[in-house]
Amino acid sequence: MPLTHGTQERAGFLDMQAEVGITKHPGGYPATDELLALCHIDTASRVLNVGCGIGVASTYLARKFGCRVVAIDRSPQMVSWSQQRAWEEGVAGHIDLVVADLLAMPFASDQFDIVFCESVLNFVGDKPRAIDECKRVTVPGGYVGINEMFWLSEAISAFEGQVSAILGTQQALLTKSGWQALWEASGLAEETAHIHPVDVSREVRDRIHWVGWRWIVRAWGRALRLYGTKPAVRNAIKEQFRFPIDVMSNMGYGVFVGRKPLSTF
Ligand SMILES: C[S@@+](CC[C@H](N)C(=O)[O-])C[C@H]1O[C@@H](n2cnc3c(N)ncnc32)[C@H](O)[C@@H]1O
Repeated sequence: MPLTHGTQERAGFLDMQAEVGITKHPGGYPATDELLALCHIDTASRVLNVGCGIGVASTYLARKFGCRVVAIDRSPQMVSWSQQRAWEEGVAGHIDLVVADLLAMPFASDQFDIVFCESVLNFVGDKPRAIDECKRVTVPGGYVGINEMFWLSEAISAFEGQVSAILGTQQALLTKSGWQALWEASGLAEETAHIHPVDVSREVRDRIHWVGWRWIVRAWGRALRLYGTKPAVRNAIKEQFRFPIDVMSNMGYGVFVGRKPLSTF
């Protein structure tokens, strides 16, 4: 939903993130390290980062492993933040950025050794189709890795409707067992699922570390300007802060990794 100057409109969560220039996933760098270690990343890996947001993981991998990364996001604004970050971090030559929807990626099948996404599938209604598309572009024997948040307990939170509205899709957050079932049905081999509780204070520290102080200060400047000038952003921020903090105690995240079978008979 575009940001508007009306008084009743509410900006979508991702539109707001794109305007401000901040994205994040649960677990910060440690979760990304865990995910990519399970995917056996190394210097020679051809990696696809799906739903790259402002490009923190892409630039991190290019710096740490020196590998080539292709990164896609549906939002041109996110892709442009990623481009800026890649230049600022001196790794623009290692990263190819593409505006694309993960449900129909503009790549031939069997291209990448590792296809990963973090905090992206919760914004997609058709999660099995999204996983299939990630699998399609992975080489046989390559890895698909996903990091997503979910409800820990089976009793769906009373805030499910509010969460779905913020994330912009029905079937946004699944339960832990919903994710496990989805993963088992993925057709991937050697599936692994590492489950973690969400710790709010750690998430705040991780977010600062993930985005970086210099970037955070600039993003806060943009956020304050938007808050002052765009009612749609003001309404969205107020709605998100109406969340009781204990909702988070019912949330966890999972690092899910599986291997595309070598052959499909
Ligand atoms: C919460 S952000 C996470 C970004 C990044 N992975 C990170 O960890 O910082 C979710 C991202 O997924 C992107 N996204 C959501 N749905 C998508 C889709 N169908 N195709 C491609 N990107 C999508 C959004 O534009 C946004 O940049």
